[in-house]
Amino acid sequence: MTIGAPIAGGTLCGAQRVDSSADEAAAAARAADVLRAGGLAALPTETVYGLAALAASPGAVARIYAAKGRPSSNPLIVHVASLEQAATFADTSAAAALADLWPGPLTAVLPLTDAAAIAPAALAGGTTVAVRIPASPLFRAVCAAAGPLVAPSANRSGRVSPTTAAAVAEELGAVIDLIVDAGPCPVGLESTVVDLTATPPRLLRPGATSLAALAARLGTVATGPAADGGAPLRSPGLLASHYAPDAKVRLDVAAADVGADEAWLAFGAETSAAAPERTFRLSLNCDLDEAARGLYEGLRRLDATGAASIAVSPIPAEGIGLAIRDRLMRAAAPRPDSPASGGPTTGAPASGGPDA
Ligand code: TXA
Ligand code: MG
Repeated sequence: MTIGAPIAGGTLCGAQRVDSSADEAAAAARAADVLRAGGLAALPTETVYGLAALAASPGAVARIYAAKGRPSSNPLIVHVASLEQAATFADTSAAAALADLWPGPLTAVLPLTDAAAIAPAALAGGTTVAVRIPASPLFRAVCAAAGPLVAPSANRSGRVSPTTAAAVAEELGAVIDLIVDAGPCPVGLESTVVDLTATPPRLLRPGATSLAALAARLGTVATGPAADGGAPLRSPGLLASHYAPDAKVRLDVAAADVGADEAWLAFGAETSAAAPERTFRLSLNCDLDEAARGLYEGLRRLDATGAASIAVSPIPAEGIGLAIRDRLMRAAAPRPDSPASGGPTTGAPASGGPDA
C-alpha cells in the first residue's frame, strides 16, 4: 500500500492516495479511519468511483454536497454491507425479492424506518432511502467497519462520472481526504435505480442490472417519467443535462458524417474523417459491455483534446446499450447554463431516470 503518492494524471491533489492492490485490508482500514473522523474518501465500486462519507454524520454529508456542488434537493444513495445492515434504517421487505441481485450494480428506493440513523440532508429531507450493496469487497468491508455510507459518484455535479482514480483526482482531488485506487471500474456506468415504494415499482435509472432481471423478480416494472410529473422525491435529480463534458455532444452520427474537426466516440471498426488522436473507440467488435466500461473515459479523453464537438456512433438500444444511450442523451442535452436551454431542465429524456 502506498500513501501520499501523487495520482498520475491528476491535477492539484490534496487527497492521499491508497493503492488497494497491495493490501486491500489495510486500504479498507485506512478508509474506515478517514470516514469515522468525518472525512471524505473516494472508494472504488464495480460501477464508478463513489465519494463516501458516514451516512449518519450531518457534517460529513454537508461536505459531500459542498465538494460536488450538488443541489441539496438531490438525495444520496446509502451503501451497506448487507440487507441486514440496511434493515437497521429501512424497510427491506420489498427488497427481499431482489436479494440474489446483490451485491451488484442495483439500487432500491425503500421506506425509511429510522430517521435518526441517516442525516436528513442525505435524503433531501425525504422519507425514502435509496440503498445499494456494492460488489466491491473493499467497499463492503468499509461499510461493515464504519457504518452505512452515502456515496454519490465522485465527480462534480453534472459532470462525467469517474471510472479511474486519476479521474477522481481530476474532479475532486483538491477537496477530499483520500482516494482508494483499485484500477478501472469493471462496469463503468452507475447502478440501476428502482423505486420499490412506487406501485408498480418504477425504474428510475437504467444500468447493468437489466429491466428484464427486475421484472422477473418483481412482476410489472414501470419505466419513463412518473405520471405525477416527477414529484421531487419520487424522481429527484431529474436534470436532463448530466454526465456532460465541456464539448457539445452529437448522437447517432454515421461514420461518413463525422466532421474532420470533430472528436469521434466510435463503436465498431469503421473509419471516419476525425483525426486518430481525436478518436476513441468504445469497442472494435461492437461489444456493449466493453463500450459501457470505456464510455466515461472516452468522453473525458475526447474532451481533453479541446474539440468543440464530439460525434458519437449509433449505439444499439439493447442490453446495457439502453443505459449507455440514456447517459449519452443526458451528455447531449442542453446545458442548464447555456442560453439556448433557458435554465435548468426538469423533464427526463424518454428513457427516464435521475442522475447526479
Ligand atoms: O453506481 C452508483 O449508483 C454510484 C456508485 C458510487 O455507487 N453512485 C451514484 O450515486 O451514481 P449518484 O448520487 O451519482 O446517483 C444517485 C441517484 C441520483 O440520481 C438520485 O437522485 C437518486 O439516485 N436517488 C437517491 N436517493 C433517492 C431516493 N430516495 N428516491 C429516488 N431517487 C433517489
Ligand atoms: Mg452521479
